[in-house]
Amino acid sequence: TPRPAASAPHIVITAGPTREPLDPVRYLSNHSSGKMGFALAAAAALEGANVTLISGPVELPTPKGVTRIDVESAEQMHAETQRLAPRAALFIGCAAVADYRAAAPAEHKLKKQETGDTLTLTLVKNPDIIASVAALPAEQRPLVVGFAAETQDIERYARDKLQRKGLDMIVANDVSLAGLGFGSDQNAAWLLWRTPQGVESRSEAPQPKTQLAGTIIRQALALLATQTAEK
Ligand code: C5P
Repeated sequence: TPRPAASAPHIVITAGPTREPLDPVRYLSNHSSGKMGFALAAAAALEGANVTLISGPVELPTPKGVTRIDVESAEQMHAETQRLAPRAALFIGCAAVADYRAAAPAEHKLKKQETGDTLTLTLVKNPDIIASVAALPAEQRPLVVGFAAETQDIERYARDKLQRKGLDMIVANDVSLAGLGFGSDQNAAWLLWRTPQGVESRSEAPQPKTQLAGTIIRQALALLATQTAEK
């Protein structure tokens, strides 16, 4: 296996779903497969980068040459990100982070109640992991790439999210098309990135996630090169 050169950029990627415990045996989660994030990690390693993949629970093998850190909850993913992102050149938030977690997970297994037909869960907001990386002080802040799953007006919503979260680049998937996005091996996407002149964008036709991953990594590395040149 080719060892990354000493000057190889360090890239940190989050992938997969998060799991938010309700009690010792139950959790809230989503259907993210982790395929896109793992494909990005593999593509980045092939480009010679030094890659750390922070992964939620997924059924995928670790790509060759990638350092993998397994986490379960959004808070654990946030903690690992806070530890690693300030030392990275590029951060890619590809994880489907749960927006909420149980306010107070039960210490023991919740019992079915004898009376009543409803049970109310109180949820609290999880940290926005990518926004916290984007908000790091300039000398610690990597280039930040986010993802957005949209079903309509993809480019416009992606532009909004790029600005709102303070990202450098965003990849917006069209999840309305059958056979694309969640769980699938194919993705169609818009890539939008910030330049000193404004926002540039490019549309990518439906293609295997592995191929799209290569395009995203090369675009992000090119952007990194222009920003480093400006500094
Ligand atoms: O706001 P939305 O969840 O659509 O934004 C998606 C982007 O934000 C993805 O890059 C995702 O990884 C990231 N995100 C995050 N932490 C959250 C929620 C989303 O890093 N709590």
